[in-house]
Amino acid sequence: MIAICPGSFDPVTHGHLDVIARAAGLFEEVVVAVGRNSAKNYLFETGERVALVRETTSHLPNVTVAPLDGLLVDFARERGAGVLVKGIRFASDFDFELQMAHINQVVGSVETVMLPASSVWSTLSSTMVREVASFGGDVSAFVPEVVALAIRRRTEGWEQRNG
Ligand code: PNS
Repeated sequence: MIAICPGSFDPVTHGHLDVIARAAGLFEEVVVAVGRNSAKNYLFETGERVALVRETTSHLPNVTVAPLDGLLVDFARERGAGVLVKGIRFASDFDFELQMAHINQVVGSVETVMLPASSVWSTLSSTMVREVASFGGDVSAFVPEVVALAIRRRTEGWEQRNG
C-alpha cells in the first residue's frame, strides 16, 4: 500500500523524520507531500523544503518527496495512495487531525493513520525551531546538520539585511 506523509516541513525536524521512517517501515511506499498552509508564513520556499526533505530521507529507498499544490486527497488519488500518515504529539494535534481525517475521508475516501510521536521528539515543532533560529540560537539538536546549515544561511541573510 502507498501512504502519504503530508506536512509543511518548514523546516523538516527529527520528529518529522522519525514519523516518515516509521511509516516507511509500515507501508510499501511512502510519498512525502510538502504542502503550503495559507495561514502560515514560511521560512523556506516550497522548492527548498522539498530539497531538504529529499536530502534527509535519501537513505530510505521506499520514500519519495513531492510538492503538494492543491487538495491532499487529489494528490493521494493521483499517486494511487489510500492512506495518510500523521504524527500526533499532543491532544491539540489529535483534535485538529481528527477534523482533517473526517474531511479527507468524506471528500476523498482516504483513510488516516495517526502515529504517536516518539517520546524523545514528542514536544518538538518546526515553529519552535524557527523561533530559536530567528534569534540566532543553536537548533542542531532538533534538525539534521544539512537543515541546521540551511537555517543558518537563511537567518544570517536576515541579520545582514536588518542589521
Ligand atoms: O505541517 P502542516 O502545516 O500541519 O501541514 C498542513 C498541510 C499542508 C498538510 C495541510 O494544510 C494540507 O493538507 N493542505 C492541502 C489542502 C488540503 O487538502 N487540506 C485538507 C482539507 S481541509
